[in-house]
Amino acid sequence: MCGIVGYVGAERGEKALNVVMEGLTRLEYRGYDSAGIAAVGEGAVETRKRAGKLANLVTALGDAPLPETSTAIGHTRWATHGGPTDQNAHPHRGGLDGKLAVVHNGIIENFHALKQQLQGRGVTFTSETDTEVVAHLLSEAYGRTPDLTQAMREVVNILEGAFTLLAVHADQPDVVVGARRNSPLVVGLGEGENFLGSDVAAFIGYTKQAMELAQDQIVTITPEGYEVMNFDGSPSDGKVYEVTWDAAAAEKSGYDTFMEKEIHEQPKAVHDTLLGRTDAEGRLTLDEVHIDVEELRAVTKIVIVACGTASYAGMVAKYAIERWARIPVEIELAHEFRYRDPVVGEHTLVVSISQSGETMDTLMAVRHAKALGAKTISICNTHGSTIPRESDAVLYTHAGPEIAVASTKAFLAQITSSYILGLYLASLQGGISEQAAHGVMAELQEIPLQIETLLRSMDRVKEIAYFMADSRAVLFLGRHVGYPIAMEGALKLKELAYIHAEGFAAGELKHGPIALIEPGLPVFVIVPSPDSEHGLHSKVVSNIQEIRARGARTLVIAEEGDEDVVPFADEVIRVPRTSPLLAPLLTVVPLQVFALHLSTAKGLDVDQPRNLAKSVTVE
Ligand code: F6R
Repeated sequence: MCGIVGYVGAERGEKALNVVMEGLTRLEYRGYDSAGIAAVGEGAVETRKRAGKLANLVTALGDAPLPETSTAIGHTRWATHGGPTDQNAHPHRGGLDGKLAVVHNGIIENFHALKQQLQGRGVTFTSETDTEVVAHLLSEAYGRTPDLTQAMREVVNILEGAFTLLAVHADQPDVVVGARRNSPLVVGLGEGENFLGSDVAAFIGYTKQAMELAQDQIVTITPEGYEVMNFDGSPSDGKVYEVTWDAAAAEKSGYDTFMEKEIHEQPKAVHDTLLGRTDAEGRLTLDEVHIDVEELRAVTKIVIVACGTASYAGMVAKYAIERWARIPVEIELAHEFRYRDPVVGEHTLVVSISQSGETMDTLMAVRHAKALGAKTISICNTHGSTIPRESDAVLYTHAGPEIAVASTKAFLAQITSSYILGLYLASLQGGISEQAAHGVMAELQEIPLQIETLLRSMDRVKEIAYFMADSRAVLFLGRHVGYPIAMEGALKLKELAYIHAEGFAAGELKHGPIALIEPGLPVFVIVPSPDSEHGLHSKVVSNIQEIRARGARTLVIAEEGDEDVVPFADEVIRVPRTSPLLAPLLTVVPLQVFALHLSTAKGLDVDQPRNLAKSVTVE
């Protein structure tokens, strides 16, 4: 949510602006309501900013180029305070001398009171943003102590809320100062140049050396180096690490959209997430989970907290973990968990699932769980992000950078990781035999190839999506692990194609939703494997007949060889055979492909759907 980039190099030229614009291009997925850039010039900071996508800023820069510089900051916005206008676009200036500019990600909760105080001192505002308050406060502080780092320290200590801030001042032309509280900020370390970004994608084209900052820290970068300070003024060190992916991973590589590319990267995402989690005999080895084994053996309840797609991965995980580990699992939306009084104690394991590792709702849930004495494990795709840093342990998903706003490959990697965790807990607590765990792992190893096969047979799904471009509503039904997949299919369609879509548990149909069925209504049904227990398969086949009898157009996702569905299906979409608990790793794929093509058929922006942003860093 909002992307920010900072750069400082040794020489004036075009590079600083190019680096920042390139960084903004890579971070545009974080917000695309407006974009802006500030260049530190001779005695003044110049800015250009425009409402709308980054392309508008590029045009503005073509019309009125910025001067050559060695120091620049940039911003791509997801609007919170103040609409998406040129005036509300960042950077914001503070003071009247035109020497200071600020970009910001997050929300300053006490901005109103601070604004009134500033207005009382005669300051006039040109925007409706909370950010402009920070710019004026920094300008005042700089007037008292002409040092941007100290001014930042003074100001952050009176701010409430979540923020990442970057500031530049014309009197310190070789300096960018950054600060973070509850919002992401990473430092990129170069030779004679340094970078700041909301995530490493901002500077991955220039350096793979990155540095994590902890909570409540200020960093000052110059061409020669950096200094880290806590908000209380004490010095600190950051943690340096090497980014394991390269610039190509954050590019479209011949695909029309990032989403399409990421759908095709799913076999690799699952494969890489499984990699290194077993020893030579195929036994699970989770060395990275630094929680005492005895404490894990003592776990009596698991609570999974997550939002959106990640929460559906958690719902899928519940079925598998309870089955294997015989530990009760609750799955709860992180924002609901945080604001009630959950029964959580020292024998509760709270598992958070988050692609970005920065989702504020999930972060707050993790903090809440820790405060209640629970152990916390994060399943996360972003190295060094806040949620894993604040959890007792982390199990990284290795999906690589996910740029499209709609999550796909991270979802499969989340399910895979939570299965690994479930099997691990099950083997610690004796819920599953070594042989059975080994068998599941062996089946999981086959999934990447099965996804590849499935992706090769998606032509019909694409055609269906084009035929259905005018649909006004679509329903999705599933049972057992197919239920969360129904909800995920509906979410993908809502966010990408702006179509009213709902996912239901098929068993719930007769308790109300069946009233929605009318002639011609498209309904996707995720059919469990004929090998499923408790006659689940035939129950869903009956559900298909019930809706078909009422005129629904049935689009059935069924295993290869399942002929029982054929008489009642308008379309059958086949997925390879696997064991029932692993089926979600396959059945979701056609639903992702369907949403992608329906969005394309409607001429919509697949990677950057309206009103959304990747990484929701406000509550
Ligand atoms: C939907 C989607 C969102 C995210 C949710 C959580 O396609 O991507 O629903 O899953 O915002 O984000 P993370 O996983 O970053 O915590």
